[in-house]
Amino acid sequence: MRVLVVGSGAREHALVRALAADEQVARVWAAPGNPGIAAEPGAAGCRPLDPLDPAAVVALAAELDAELVVVGPEAPLVAGVADAVRQAGTACFGPSAQAARLEGSKAFAKEVMAAAGVPTAAARACTTTEQVAAALEEFGAPHVVKDDGLAAGKGVVVTDDRADALAHAAACLGRTGGGTGGGTGAVVVEEFLDGPEVSVFCLTDGRTVVPLAPAQDAKRAHDGDTGPNTGGMGAYSPLPWAPPGLVDEVVARVAQPVVDEMDRRGAPFAGVLYCGLALTSRGVRVVEFNARFGDPETQVVLARLRTPLGGLLHAAATGVLDDVPPLRWSRDAAVTVVVAAAGYPGRVRTGDPVTGLEAVPAAPGAPYALHAGTALDGAGRLVSAGGRVLSVVGTGPDLAAARAAAYAGVARVHLPGSHSRTDIAAAALRGSSA
Ligand code: AMP
Ligand code: GLY
Repeated sequence: MRVLVVGSGAREHALVRALAADEQVARVWAAPGNPGIAAEPGAAGCRPLDPLDPAAVVALAAELDAELVVVGPEAPLVAGVADAVRQAGTACFGPSAQAARLEGSKAFAKEVMAAAGVPTAAARACTTTEQVAAALEEFGAPHVVKDDGLAAGKGVVVTDDRADALAHAAACLGRTGGGTGGGTGAVVVEEFLDGPEVSVFCLTDGRTVVPLAPAQDAKRAHDGDTGPNTGGMGAYSPLPWAPPGLVDEVVARVAQPVVDEMDRRGAPFAGVLYCGLALTSRGVRVVEFNARFGDPETQVVLARLRTPLGGLLHAAATGVLDDVPPLRWSRDAAVTVVVAAAGYPGRVRTGDPVTGLEAVPAAPGAPYALHAGTALDGAGRLVSAGGRVLSVVGTGPDLAAARAAAYAGVARVHLPGSHSRTDIAAAALRGSSA
């Protein structure tokens, strides 16, 4: 099988790495990719591409004679890339633009959850500051205010300060333009959910749901879950503290009802339904859906998956997931730690040299780096080019070993001004979620 992965982050690097390890995958390209993917052993390299241009993706898939296109990020999905690829007759892993609204509009996701009876935070969709003020009053503190549209994991403010909540709402309400670039001019104000967060990725062909192993992401920028929300600063899997039966419960109460509801609406969701959940004292509640693999959680989930990834994604893309035998998992644990640029998640500094990667040994079982915001400068040197610059994945027979491996790798990487969390998976070693 010849596979094209669309995207350029560490999630796409993890996907390419796993696809390259699948014997049934003859060639795997990424577009536009990044320097780390370009150097990935076993992969066929990167191609330039505007991932938001459906016609360009179709043309590249045709040029490469790809039999499967895997769309990594949400923006191309919302822009209709999966629809265009399928229309051109190529299998595509990723939902239609219509189905991707489960991620693209938080208000839509709430409406589908209500129709499907899926447990989630009570919420109000607001388009005026008066409505926002009333909803803040209704739910009380801590306040949760979400940009309705896509915001790269940064559209949510959780705060005890009513003025901060109102200011964020005002900023979101003022940001219109719709589509992939920014706000929809609406915000969602919702009830605060108290409890540990879990990410469960459910592969689906639009009918059958196959869950992957759960992971936990560290969303806040700084140690001890302090600082602003980010796209994710690290992750680990498995979760020693998670209740037994969690994944089955998520499929039964969340993923299958949502997949069935989307099918009923004539907008079947095929791809990966990312269920972001809070385990509250009242049970599992959905915090958010995404229409794509999570980053960085995918890095640790794929590090543990033993079932070849290419066949699995192809089955989801072609409607035959019910034929797939039970997934196989490594007994190993995996931990990933993000190395972020100075300023992330605010305004980031770019163009700094990234060195020391050659010191992260490329041996079986050794930690490895996955690139995200890296580029080559005019002299061919690796430099930072984004907020989350790279991450280091460690694996081992238990979380302690995996964590030690990941941090040993991070210690060897040098990027001026960078910051990483030092507490990824630390609480889990003590059997606790935070
Ligand atoms: P979202 O983009 O909806 O995933 O939100 C980003 C992050 O904000 C989540 O991972 C949570 O950490 C936090 N968050 C979102 N909604 C809530 C909520 N209702 N209660 C508590 N925290 C929330
Ligand atoms: N790690 C959170 C996300 O991918 O949305």
